[in-house]
Amino acid sequence: MQMGVAEMTADRLLEGLNPTQREAVAHGEGPLLVLAGAGSGKTRVLIHRVAHLIGRGAAEPFEITAVTFTNKAAREMRERAATLIDAGPGLGGAFVGTFHRWALDILRRWPEAAGLPRRFSIIDSDDQRGLMVKILKDEGLDPKEYPARKVLSRISGHVNRMESVKSLEKRTGDVRIQVVARLWRRYTARKKELGAVDFDDMLALVLKALSSDRAVAASVKRRAQWLLVDEFQDTNKLQMKLLNTVLSEKGNITAVGDEDQSIYRWRGAEMDNILDFERSFPGAHVVALERNYRSTAPILKVSGALIAANAQRRGKKLFTEKDGGEPVQLFIAPGEREEARWVCDRIETLQSKYPLGEMAVLMRTNAQTRPFEEELTRRQVPYRVVGGLRFWQRAEVKDALAYLRLVVRPEDALAFE
Ligand SMILES: Nc1ncnc2c1ncn2[C@@H]1O[C@H](COP(=O)(O)OP(=O)(O)OP(=O)(O)O)[C@@H](O)[C@H]1O
Ligand SMILES: [Mg+2]
Repeated sequence: MQMGVAEMTADRLLEGLNPTQREAVAHGEGPLLVLAGAGSGKTRVLIHRVAHLIGRGAAEPFEITAVTFTNKAAREMRERAATLIDAGPGLGGAFVGTFHRWALDILRRWPEAAGLPRRFSIIDSDDQRGLMVKILKDEGLDPKEYPARKVLSRISGHVNRMESVKSLEKRTGDVRIQVVARLWRRYTARKKELGAVDFDDMLALVLKALSSDRAVAASVKRRAQWLLVDEFQDTNKLQMKLLNTVLSEKGNITAVGDEDQSIYRWRGAEMDNILDFERSFPGAHVVALERNYRSTAPILKVSGALIAANAQRRGKKLFTEKDGGEPVQLFIAPGEREEARWVCDRIETLQSKYPLGEMAVLMRTNAQTRPFEEELTRRQVPYRVVGGLRFWQRAEVKDALAYLRLVVRPEDALAFE
């Protein structure tokens, strides 16, 4: 029997996948949840699924909306899916990007539907802080008692949990809540005067545009016939609402995630989105991936034992076929200097077997790099700090951007506040 071109491509798109991964990639219409532990190929499944949908002709590229949590992940997904189907980097017009990118594209195209001026501007976290500092001053509030960042993060939490300022104002018993509500109102008014939108506003504004303009809703829905979401455990209420609003009649949503890797609780991530997936999307097919491709057995065993203590979880098994692997060591140091010294001793020992480029020291916060940096410098071991100040936040870059914004949008006084 002769194979059609579509079938041949489809076959190739299932190469390099294990049977459960294939099942997920080739799943037809209707909701699909891929629930699996770290390093089990969830992202790989999503990439292959995008390619497979296009490659076997089930979807036109422009009917696909795939969302990730970082730009880097989006770029990788786009490039790898494109390679699989020999498409250009644009992936034939499929949308692959972050929730914010998705929202921004929609708002730029239909600002009026969201009640925005044609040339609205986006404010980043430093702009936000600048605005809030001024408001706090105007209100005569002590910044020690009401730090701008804290107030903003409170407001952000409310927005992402879809709570309104009115609901806060009703909680009259608490003075602090009343203050936050008042600050929130003023902050909103100030943004409106400036024609500015912050990151949290974007999704809410998209929802507004979708409900106020049918043509906009129809167009966005057409482009989201096939919805795919990576790191689903990190979605919040607002994002879930948006996904539900644009979901096709067939319920074509693919979510992949791991409830044990939820890292955005503090900004409103809603674990129930993944825990109650089948209730939210009736008829959902659930695939569990159990083979881990990243780690050796000793590492899996230790991490498995640690996360077994997590409260909200569906539970999962993980195995690996990677041979060997050294046992995991626990070293409790009396202080940070001893800790750094011990780690650097290990690095120097390992150096005879592995290149430095394959070693990494992880820490919880940026401030903790210091003793390690000192110790490494003393021993003349070259190192690189990853994830410090981000490029866009460096002073000289911010200045350059402010001037550019003023050129594009002279009324954008905010850039210089
Ligand atoms: N079937 C497979 N055969 C070989 N390698 C695989 C297979 N599936 C996944 N991998 C590899 O395993 C590694 C982890 O895959 P991937 O990043 O997709 O996992 P993940 O579940 O998304 O991880 P995380 O939980 O960290 O997001 C990658 O290097 C990937 O290429
Ligand atoms: Mg992943």
